[in-house]
Amino acid sequence: MRAASISALAALAIAVEGSSNAHHDRHCGSLLRVFPPGGPVQVHTARSVSAGGLSLSSEDSTEPIQNEFAICHVQGTIKYADGPSGHVQPDPSGSATLTWEVFLPEHAEYNGRYLGVGEHSSPIDRQSTDQTGNGGYAGVIDNYTMLTYLNSGYAVGGCDSGHHVRENGNEDGYAPFMDDVAKVKAWIHDSIALTTRVARDAVTTAYYSHPPAYSYYYGCSTGGGQGYSLAEFYPDLFDGIYASGPGNYYSHLILSFLWNTQKTNTTGFMTQDLLTFITEAALDNCDALDGVKDRVIENPFNCLFDVQELECTPESDHNATLCLTTPQVAAARQIYSGAFDARNGFQVYPGFEFGSEVGWLEQQGTLFNTYGAPILRQLAFDDPSYDAVRNFHWRDDLHAVDALASPLIDGISTNLTEFHGRGGKFITAQGWADPINAAKWPVNHLQDIQAVMGEGVVNEFMRLFMVPGGGHCGTNPAYPQVPATYHILDALVEWVENETVPDDGVLSSEPPDGSGTTRRLCPWPKQAVLVGDDQNDWGSYECAEVS
Ligand SMILES: *[C@@H]1O[C@H](CO)[C@@H](O)[C@H](O)[C@H]1NC(C)=O
Ligand SMILES: *[C@@H]1O[C@H](CO)[C@@H](O)[C@H](O)[C@H]1NC(C)=O
Ligand SMILES: *[C@@H]1O[C@H](CO)[C@@H](O)[C@H](O)[C@H]1NC(C)=O
Ligand SMILES: *[C@@H]1O[C@H](CO)[C@@H](O)[C@H](O)[C@H]1NC(C)=O
Ligand SMILES: *[C@@H]1O[C@H](CO)[C@@H](O)[C@H](O)[C@H]1NC(C)=O
Repeated sequence: MRAASISALAALAIAVEGSSNAHHDRHCGSLLRVFPPGGPVQVHTARSVSAGGLSLSSEDSTEPIQNEFAICHVQGTIKYADGPSGHVQPDPSGSATLTWEVFLPEHAEYNGRYLGVGEHSSPIDRQSTDQTGNGGYAGVIDNYTMLTYLNSGYAVGGCDSGHHVRENGNEDGYAPFMDDVAKVKAWIHDSIALTTRVARDAVTTAYYSHPPAYSYYYGCSTGGGQGYSLAEFYPDLFDGIYASGPGNYYSHLILSFLWNTQKTNTTGFMTQDLLTFITEAALDNCDALDGVKDRVIENPFNCLFDVQELECTPESDHNATLCLTTPQVAAARQIYSGAFDARNGFQVYPGFEFGSEVGWLEQQGTLFNTYGAPILRQLAFDDPSYDAVRNFHWRDDLHAVDALASPLIDGISTNLTEFHGRGGKFITAQGWADPINAAKWPVNHLQDIQAVMGEGVVNEFMRLFMVPGGGHCGTNPAYPQVPATYHILDALVEWVENETVPDDGVLSSEPPDGSGTTRRLCPWPKQAVLVGDDQNDWGSYECAEVS
C-alpha cells in the first residue's frame, strides 16, 4: 500500500512536469520534484553525469571503475519509524533516516531491469571487515558494486541500510544504532524494501515512464541476510534474489564468533603462521581427492584430515618445525565442530571447513568483539558491560538471544511459499574457504527449507552454488588462483526470464593472480568434474553428483 501511494505521488509529479520534456538533462533534473516537500521521502540530488563522470575505487587494490555511459544520478533520504506490522515504514516525523542512491543509465543503454544492491557486496570489505568499521554493520552505500552492474545496463539502487556508518561504534562493543529498534529492524529486514519502493517504484519508473520489466536483488554477507529477509518478509518485491555468503542467521553467526573466541582464549590461541600451516597440511591431504591438483579442496566434506597429525611431539624441535600444542589442537577441533546447545546437543551454528583455517585469526576475538558484543549487550541482555567471553553459558543464555535478538535481525524462515508462488527465483553462493561465515550454514539451511517445502518444490526456485577455495564474498587471499567473479546474476536473469535452469553450472572467472583461469560452479550437491583436457578452463568440467 505504501508502494502504491508513493508511486501515485510520483506519477502525479511527472504528469504535472509534462510530457514534452524529452530532453535528457531536464528529465533527470525533474526527479527533484518527484516527492512533495514535507513528506518522509526527499530527493536531494538529481543530475546528469556524462560517461566517466563517476569514478570509484575500493579501499583495497581493486581497480577504480567509471560509468561507461551517461547516467542520471539521484540521491535522497527517507525518514522512517517503527510501524504496527513489526516492520518500519516511511514516517515524516520519524527520528531515523535512511540515505539512498540510484544510478539510471541513459535510455539507450538501459536494459529494462532494476537491481537492488545490498550491504557489504563490494570488494571494499572483503578482506577487512574489522578495519573499515562497517562491513557487517553496514551504514554505507555500496556504490562500487552499483557502478559495476550499472555498466551492464541495470538501473541500480542502494542504501546505507537505515543508519550512518558513524553509528556503528568503534569496535569497543557498543554500536549506537542498536539503541534504536527502528534502526535495528531496518538494518537487515526492511531497508532494502523501503529503498526499493522509492528508488524503483517512484524514481526509476518516473524516469523511464514505465516500471522496469524485471527486478533483481544482489547482496553478500549482511547483504545476503537482507536477501533472505526480502524473500521472507517482502515476497512480491523481486523476481530474482542473489544472496551470497548469507548472514541470514545473524544472531547465531555472532554466537559462532563467541564460541570460537571462548575456545581459543587463551592457551588455544593460534598465530597466523600456525593457521597457514594447518591449511597447507589440509591441502596436502585433500587437494587431489577430486583428481585435480590445484591447491584447492573441491568438497571439504570428503576430506578426512585430522589436525592432531600436526600436534607437537616430545621430539619436536619447536624452533625448526611448526607444530600445535595440545590446547591448540583442541581449539582447532572446536572451530571445526562449531557451536552446540548444551541443553539438547543441537548445533547452534556449524563449524568451519578444511581449507578455511588460514583466515581464522579474527575468529579468536576480533569478530566477536566487533560484531557480536553489541548484539548481546544491547539486544539480548540489556547490559552495557556484559562480558560474554567470560560469562555466556551455552545452556541458560541461548534463550535470551533467540527470544530478543533473533526476531529483529534474522531471516531464517524455512517456508518461502509466497516467494515461490509469485514465481521468484533464489540463488545463494557460498565459499567453501569462507573464514567468517561457516560454509555449512547455507547447506544446512537449504536442507531445512527442503524438509518443510519438499525437495521438488524447492528445486523449482532455489539453487545453492558452493565455491571451492572461495572466501567471504569473493576472494580468500590465500587462494589467489581461484576465479573470484561469479557470473551468477546472469544465470539468475536467464532463469527468471527464459526459464533456463542453471543446472549445467555457472562460469567463474578473473582470479586475483591474473592467470585467466576459469571454473565451473555447480549447484549443490553437484560438483565440477573434470572431463576435458584443460583443468584451467571451465569448459573442461561438467556438473555431476559425486558419491
Ligand atoms: C558512495 O557512497 C557514499 C556513502 O556511503 C556517498 O557519500 C557517496 O556520495 C557515494 N559516491 C558516489 C560517487 O555516488
Ligand atoms: C581472552 O579474553 C579476554 C576477555 O575478552 C581478552 O581480554 C583477552 O585478550 C583474550 N585473550 C586472548 C589470547 O584472546
Ligand atoms: C629454541 O630456541 C630457544 C631460544 O632461542 C633456545 O633457548 C632453545 O634451546 C631452542 N630449542 C631447541 C630444541 O633447539
Ligand atoms: C507455508 O506458508 C503458507 C502461507 O504462505 C501456508 O499456507 C503453509 O501452510 C505454510 N506451510 C507450512 C509447512 O507451514
Ligand atoms: C532469452 O532467450 C532469447 C532467445 O534465445 C535470447 O535472445 C535472450 O538473450 C535470452 N535472454 C536472456 C536474459 O538470457
